[in-house]
Amino acid sequence: MPKVTIDDIEIEVPDGTTILQAARMIGGEVVPPAMCYHSKLKTSGGYCRTCIVKVEKGSEKDPRPMPKPVPSCRTTVMDGMVVRNKTAPDIVEARAGIVEFLLINHPLDCPVCDQAGECDLQDLAYEHGKSHSRYDFQRRTFEKIDIGEHIKLHMTRCILCYRCVKTAEQITDGRVHGVIYRGDAAEISTYIQNVIDNDFSGNVIDVCPVGALTDRTFRFKSRVWFTKPVDAHRDCPKCSGQVRLWEKGGEVLRVTARKDKYGEVESFICNECRYDKKNASDWVIEGPSKVDRHSVIGANHYENSVLSATDDRQQTGLPHGKKVELGEGALNPNNIY
Ligand code: SF4
Ligand code: FES
Repeated sequence: MPKVTIDDIEIEVPDGTTILQAARMIGGEVVPPAMCYHSKLKTSGGYCRTCIVKVEKGSEKDPRPMPKPVPSCRTTVMDGMVVRNKTAPDIVEARAGIVEFLLINHPLDCPVCDQAGECDLQDLAYEHGKSHSRYDFQRRTFEKIDIGEHIKLHMTRCILCYRCVKTAEQITDGRVHGVIYRGDAAEISTYIQNVIDNDFSGNVIDVCPVGALTDRTFRFKSRVWFTKPVDAHRDCPKCSGQVRLWEKGGEVLRVTARKDKYGEVESFICNECRYDKKNASDWVIEGPSKVDRHSVIGANHYENSVLSATDDRQQTGLPHGKKVELGEGALNPNNIY
């Protein structure tokens, strides 16, 4: 099994592991950001370049460094490879340049975007972006369009990561959208006015790393940090039925797939679970979702308060609106995941 050293931490990984996967095995600061790679989608990655790293030593056999930064999601580990991510100032600077490129056309409309608070580009821009743009030319803008009953496409925000295209290709039958044109004319489009209309189409919303594809049933209902994410499941004949409910004031505002700590979908869900089951009584509540403690979504969410709310709901059969007493330790910040 090859050994790789990333930011001075050595790990042994199975053959065929990419640098990004190896970094995720180590975890923490070592892990490069990824906007287009998605662990559940085959052939994803290689488009956005946010995951670039420096390969200081190619391998034990051929120790020459790689001449340029490489995308970690598409580069396989070799035995003896030495990689730098956060510890290479030139990589941090190059990544800031990539963020600047991504923001050439992407509007900074976070205050009115439904994805704010769970947007990978917002996080990246916060970490690496500059407060002004050096771009003087006219930006690409598009009219928003509805693709089907449930999905809104705001192409101006799209970063052409291809995740939605691969999702539609790999988990639905009869893909009816894709990327048309090339270069700076490229855009996501349905062809011949088709709508995206099949049982799993809603998953394109969950994989979109920005606010280009949003859930029309949730748009402008609430800022995401005012909602409480709760894990729940039901016996669904079409999908795993394992979802995340986003509730506010006792009302389920949206249903999404569960995502892991890298913002990637754990298991894809069907449209019936997503759009037609918006009562808490449709679900078996498991408890509060694990929210990264640095995420804005975790603000003011305390494990005990959410748990007691869901327990009450289960016991009384009253789905909504129960006043919650904060339990002992509820204000302990350690209770935030
Ligand atoms: S719409 Fe979203 S998921 Fe699809 S390519 Fe654009 S940014 Fe990626
Ligand atoms: S995540 Fe590797 S190129 Fe986009």
